[in-house]
Amino acid sequence: MLVSARHDGVENVMTAAWCCGLDFEPPKLTAVIDKSAHTRSLIERSGQFVVQLPTVEQLDLAQALGTQSMHDAPDKLINAGVRLFEVPGSPLPFVEGCSAWLKCQLVPEPHIQDAYDLFVGEVSAAWADDRVFRDGRWHFETADPKWRTIHHVAGGHYYAIGEAMSAG
Ligand SMILES: Cc1cc2nc3c(=O)[nH]c(=O)nc-3n(C[C@H](O)[C@H](O)[C@H](O)COP(=O)(O)O)c2cc1C
Repeated sequence: MLVSARHDGVENVMTAAWCCGLDFEPPKLTAVIDKSAHTRSLIERSGQFVVQLPTVEQLDLAQALGTQSMHDAPDKLINAGVRLFEVPGSPLPFVEGCSAWLKCQLVPEPHIQDAYDLFVGEVSAAWADDRVFRDGRWHFETADPKWRTIHHVAGGHYYAIGEAMSAG
């Protein structure tokens, strides 16, 4: 996933593989955001963030956003070549070219944020590109393969999402 946030005119995007669904009603997710991440301070101070799903075409972007920190590379976003867009009515920065975007309100949980670097977000809005997600489900098997989501394993090694299977 790519996690973006903005506070006081400063915006940033980081890669975060450890994002997970948490609840349906209201929809919530978790993201592990290390104390060393500059993006973390933007989330803590603004109380908002976006979780977005990068595609195969964004492999190098995900790697770049996850291996440079704005703490020591102020031009990180320019170096990575990330393009941001705005959504009317939201102060958050969204990453162009992703397949889906989840706009989250931080549910403040100071203990788990501090002890486990775990952030809870309530999803207040969500969008997806209908070339790969429509009618309430993903269409990876018929969409252009460039739309496949990427999944980090370790050491800069990723998999694209694989074949479709139906249970029953
Ligand atoms: C594939 C990948 C997955 C990552 N997943 C996480 C994660 O789940 N949580 C985290 O805190 N950092 C994760 N990182 C590391 C951050 O993205 C990295 O520390 C980044 O430089 C933080 O940027 P910032 O300091 O500009 O916010 C990941 C990096 C990569 C390359």
